[in-house]
Amino acid sequence: MSISPIRRPFVPSRDEPAVALHGFTRRFGQTTILQDLDLDIAPGEFVALLGRSGSGKTTLLRTLAGLDPADGQAVRTPSARAVVFQEPRLLPWKPVWKNVTLGLAGPSPRAQAEAALREVGLGHRLDAWPATLSGGEAQRAALARALVREPHLLLLDEPFAALDALTRLKMHELVLALWRAHRPAVLLVTHDVDEAIALSDRVLVLKDGRIGAEERIEAERPRRIEGALQAVRARLLGHLGAEPPQAVAERRASRRAEVA
Ligand SMILES: Nc1ncnc2c1ncn2[C@@H]1O[C@H](COP(=O)(O)OP(=O)(O)OP(=O)(O)O)[C@@H](O)[C@H]1O
Ligand SMILES: [Mg+2]
Repeated sequence: MSISPIRRPFVPSRDEPAVALHGFTRRFGQTTILQDLDLDIAPGEFVALLGRSGSGKTTLLRTLAGLDPADGQAVRTPSARAVVFQEPRLLPWKPVWKNVTLGLAGPSPRAQAEAALREVGLGHRLDAWPATLSGGEAQRAALARALVREPHLLLLDEPFAALDALTRLKMHELVLALWRAHRPAVLLVTHDVDEAIALSDRVLVLKDGRIGAEERIEAERPRRIEGALQAVRARLLGHLGAEPPQAVAERRASRRAEVA
């Protein structure tokens, strides 16, 4: 994994953020994708990032993962980082346990893989080939591969988007359980407003190259989206440019009243 040029070693501290990005700009040719962006994530904080397609969410995540050059700008992240993408990206010619510990130096990689796979409920599939896993199992293996690196920062780029609704809900529970057990800072990129509200401490909206809106969510988990959280959902949908469901319902009701 390449590393951004300016980076101080990560020392976990309550006072210092796990992620600090100030005035960050990223261009592709003549097109500016991220402009003067500020982002701080506290150690152990779970942050969700929403934004329209093409707004630069993956670009930001790749920067934090050290996968893209930072062009000399300061990008502060922990050195222990791991990424899970929308697709599991397992090597089909290696059994699951070898995928999990790929590139990892350690005295007993199989035991490390087994511990991580057990945590995600795949302790019985160590020697399975990736092609024999279901979509949900493959994503759990990808989570185990992230976990085994003991990340202080876990970067998730739409990791549940390709899963069916029930598997996605189970993955939410799993991610929360892993987060509680290991307490990494998390940045979850998602298109799903309800997923963002259900999981995170803070929801950010990427807009015009910077963080355009922020909602802090303090409700206890597991969360039902009702009362104040419905208002949060409506505001987030509004920031994304979608009409809040309440407004749609009210507009429809008033149209019905006009017709009657
Ligand atoms: N390597 C690249 N070279 C040129 N343009 C790029 C490159 N990577 C991304 N882009 C452009 O930058 C913009 C932001 O892309 P990015 O993948 O970050 O969006 P996103 O918010 O993750 O979108 P989505 O929700 O569809 O995944 C897009 O217009 C994309 O075409
Ligand atoms: Mg993306």
